[in-house]
Amino acid sequence: MKMNIAVLPGDGIGPEIVAQALNVTEAICKKFGHELTYKQALVGACAIDECGNPYPDETHELCMQSDAVLFGAIGSPKYDNNPSAKIRPEQGLLSMRKKLGLYANIRPVTTFESLIHKSPLRTDIVKGTDLMCIRELTGGIYFGRPQGRSEDNNTAYDTCVYTREEIERIVHLAYKYAMQRRKKLTVVDKANVLCTSRLWREVAQKIEKQYPEVTTEYMFVDNAAMQLIQWPGRFDVVVTENMFGDILTDEASVITGSLGMLPSASVGIYTSVFEPIHGSYPQAAGKNIANPIATILSAALMFEYAFNLPNEGKLIRKAVDASIEAGIVTEDLAKDGKTYSTSEVGEWITNYVNNYQL
Ligand code: IPM
Ligand code: MN
Repeated sequence: MKMNIAVLPGDGIGPEIVAQALNVTEAICKKFGHELTYKQALVGACAIDECGNPYPDETHELCMQSDAVLFGAIGSPKYDNNPSAKIRPEQGLLSMRKKLGLYANIRPVTTFESLIHKSPLRTDIVKGTDLMCIRELTGGIYFGRPQGRSEDNNTAYDTCVYTREEIERIVHLAYKYAMQRRKKLTVVDKANVLCTSRLWREVAQKIEKQYPEVTTEYMFVDNAAMQLIQWPGRFDVVVTENMFGDILTDEASVITGSLGMLPSASVGIYTSVFEPIHGSYPQAAGKNIANPIATILSAALMFEYAFNLPNEGKLIRKAVDASIEAGIVTEDLAKDGKTYSTSEVGEWITNYVNNYQL
């Protein structure tokens, strides 16, 4: 297969982890006989520094022409500590989501047997967790207007907006995934308070009838936040709006004990973007110590979701599992013993793929 991807390393540790994911991607393509072409472009703080725009037009054009986008991370302490900065790296991410129509963010949360001791929760609670959060990504309070300050500057406001259409497409997508999994869907909202949530529930209740094989439950977001740490194994597919999804997926991501392990896919209208769920970890930038696995597993999702090549994704996962088993891990995962650098872990996984007999 011919594959044409855009590579956006972004800020902080982005370039280091994306380089490793790209090596693994190239190794997989070689092994399975795919023809890979890729181009790199700027996004985030580095793009602001270069041209004053966190999501430059050239970057957007490149993404539009690509079958998939491999993304690192954005963000810089320079902006985090300056609330009055007019242009911020995060705006780049938000406009990329909007302009590429990336309406669904998919975050699978699974445990790695050998890393369970890293979880802040008890092993018996975490064991066997296998859930998928589907977060609506281009609507809600992130994008609703009006947003701003009153003239006297003493009042600020955001607006949460959802249309029936926006809810329908994400709920259908969630059912599609539920059908391929354990056939259970939890719709998370705050319908006891919010009007948008009541529309979510109304729409979901209608769609529910089209998927009789799936068991659907409705849960308020505060309760969901609680149940997620009490009994994560009870969840299969969770679907929710943008802001609730932002918060719940951060919560879900640490259940397994290793934020550095979790990939995500943002799918939508024009192309799809694959990225680790962790941020740009500026303290580690340039030190060759960051864990590249979340980005490498994002490449696995890219093969599966963007190119419909499950065996390629599977081999990446196998290689990652093997690296953990062999103790070839970065410092965040080390038990005692030796720790390895970003590039050493990446090279080990790449070699595993190169040496694998199909
Ligand atoms: C995420 C991030 C972003 C979000 C920020 C960086 C704008 O937290 O991808 O979850 O809130 O969506
Ligand atoms: Mn977030």
